Amino acid sequence: MTNQFYVAVIGAGPAGLFGARELANLGARVVLFNRDLKPGGLAEYGIYPNKHTMKNGLRKQFKQVMDLPNLTYYGNISIGEKADLTLDDLRALGFQVILVTAGAQGTKWLGLPGEDLKGVYHAKDVVYFYNKLPPFSQQSFRFGKRCAVIGAGNVMLDITHFLSREEKVEEVIAVVRRGPAEVKFDKKEMEYVIDNLDLADLDAEIQRVAPIMQAVHQDPEAAKASILVALPKALPKVSNTRFRFEFLASPVQMLGDSEGNLTQVEIEDNILVEANGDTKAKGTGNKRRLDVETVVFAIGDKVEESFGLPTEWSEFVKSQNPRFPMDGNSYESPMEDVFVGGWSRKASSGLVGLARKDGTNAAKAVWQYLQTKQPMEPNTEALAEKLKSLGKPLVLKEHLKKLEETELAQAKQQGLEAYKFGSNGEMLKVMGLA
Ligand SMILES: Cc1cc2nc3c(=O)[nH]c(=O)nc-3n(C[C@H](O)[C@H](O)[C@H](O)COP(=O)(O)OP(=O)(O)OC[C@H]3O[C@@H](n4cnc5c(N)ncnc54)[C@H](O)[C@@H]3O)c2cc1C
Ligand SMILES: NC(=O)c1ccc[n+]([C@@H]2O[C@H](COP(=O)([O-])OP(=O)(O)OC[C@H]3O[C@@H](n4cnc5c(N)ncnc54)[C@H](OP(=O)(O)O)[C@@H]3O)[C@@H](O)[C@H]2O)c1
Repeated sequence: MTNQFYVAVIGAGPAGLFGARELANLGARVVLFNRDLKPGGLAEYGIYPNKHTMKNGLRKQFKQVMDLPNLTYYGNISIGEKADLTLDDLRALGFQVILVTAGAQGTKWLGLPGEDLKGVYHAKDVVYFYNKLPPFSQQSFRFGKRCAVIGAGNVMLDITHFLSREEKVEEVIAVVRRGPAEVKFDKKEMEYVIDNLDLADLDAEIQRVAPIMQAVHQDPEAAKASILVALPKALPKVSNTRFRFEFLASPVQMLGDSEGNLTQVEIEDNILVEANGDTKAKGTGNKRRLDVETVVFAIGDKVEESFGLPTEWSEFVKSQNPRFPMDGNSYESPMEDVFVGGWSRKASSGLVGLARKDGTNAAKAVWQYLQTKQPMEPNTEALAEKLKSLGKPLVLKEHLKKLEETELAQAKQQGLEAYKFGSNGEMLKVMGLA
């Protein structure tokens, strides 16, 4: 065996896959560990299920990465302090550097009363559920007649899309802490749900918040026009779901019945204050209650705190004085041999294209670091032994091929554009691992 740099990449989402590709193409021996059985991360389990062209295009690119000869894939293996292997285990196995591209798997709990009621969820769990990621695919969710979704990003619209076009609930209320001028979603995502938008209610809502917007020099009519820009391309609605906005409102508590089921969310009205060229929401003390059976927080995610790296706010701590900056960013954790990329570097930020670029940049920083080390003979046998000792099914490249063939056959048989098994048990069986 020839001497090579030996690299562990944690997480096979877009950042990890493209980062691994970069390193493998540069000549490193790369081992890619992934919590999920299948690679793809949020491209597989986040992007809305009916975006078949995009998903299939990405799957094709991911397959090319997986075919690289000096890349080994271990699916069903989690890294973390309380996971299958720790960062120290990886070091002991001889990895010279670790690239963490595990996404942002933590939950941004706000510490509000009632967060534990039945019917209160975080978007990631709901998104994983409808995208069939085990074990979320097997959990039951309480989607009631009236649902509040907190946030004004594309994830809020994806959840609204699901609630209006799949669950066909009566009402979806987007609760937005700032105003109509600060919404973050894209026109394209609005096209799926704008036919359900109550236009008269939007008019009334914009009128209600107009004085607060004008006080910070915003144009309410321009903001309204920007929200409605998707109207000409509206996808015809498939339900009578009424979609509406509550602007300038923050949730303060959730209330439930004696059985622990959510019945109301209490919101506090906000005003806008100018701060550093942007605006901030400031509570007025005025509180109102909305009758809802479901609340979904679509406010972004944070990295996993038990991963084994120091965290600050939603993110892993990055070295402020990186040795190998890329595009002005630090990809370095405070541990000299651990780098971060994609949503593990900057939680909940940007599209797949950005994660791909970020993973690639992180890999370039890793490669520069490796130039300060000597290539070695990777002890792949020690790793195989260690993984065997975990006593759990290990998903390898050849198993994924079997799974893919079976899924394609199922889709064809059932006349579907795509087919996914909903449990790890079923997938492992198909792969011959259970
Ligand atoms: C609901 C939603 C919809 C989206 N829709 C779009 C869209 O339509 N178009 C678009 O361009 N972008 C979309 N995005 C954004 C896009 O999905 C992300 O930019 C991208 O997936 C981030 O890539 P990543 O590799 O950093 O993280 P992720 O995609 O989250 O991948 C993380 C990977 O790490 C693995 N992992 C996690 N923890 C561990 C661990 N402890 N050990 C080992 N492995 C681990 C996971 O199994 C996963 O494979 C969407 C995002 C969301 C949340
Ligand atoms: N189809 C697609 O292309 C697609 C689909 C889904 C996701 N994505 C991408 O994935 C990334 C993440 O999306 P996202 O929607 O999770 O994030 P996002 O775009 O950052 O939106 C988060 C929303 O939550 C609000 N928020 C944050 N903290 C809050 C709090 N404590 N209380 C109340 N509201 C709060 C934010 O308000 P403030 O503005 O006031 O902070 C914002 O409106 C984005 O880059 C998005 O474009 C893309």
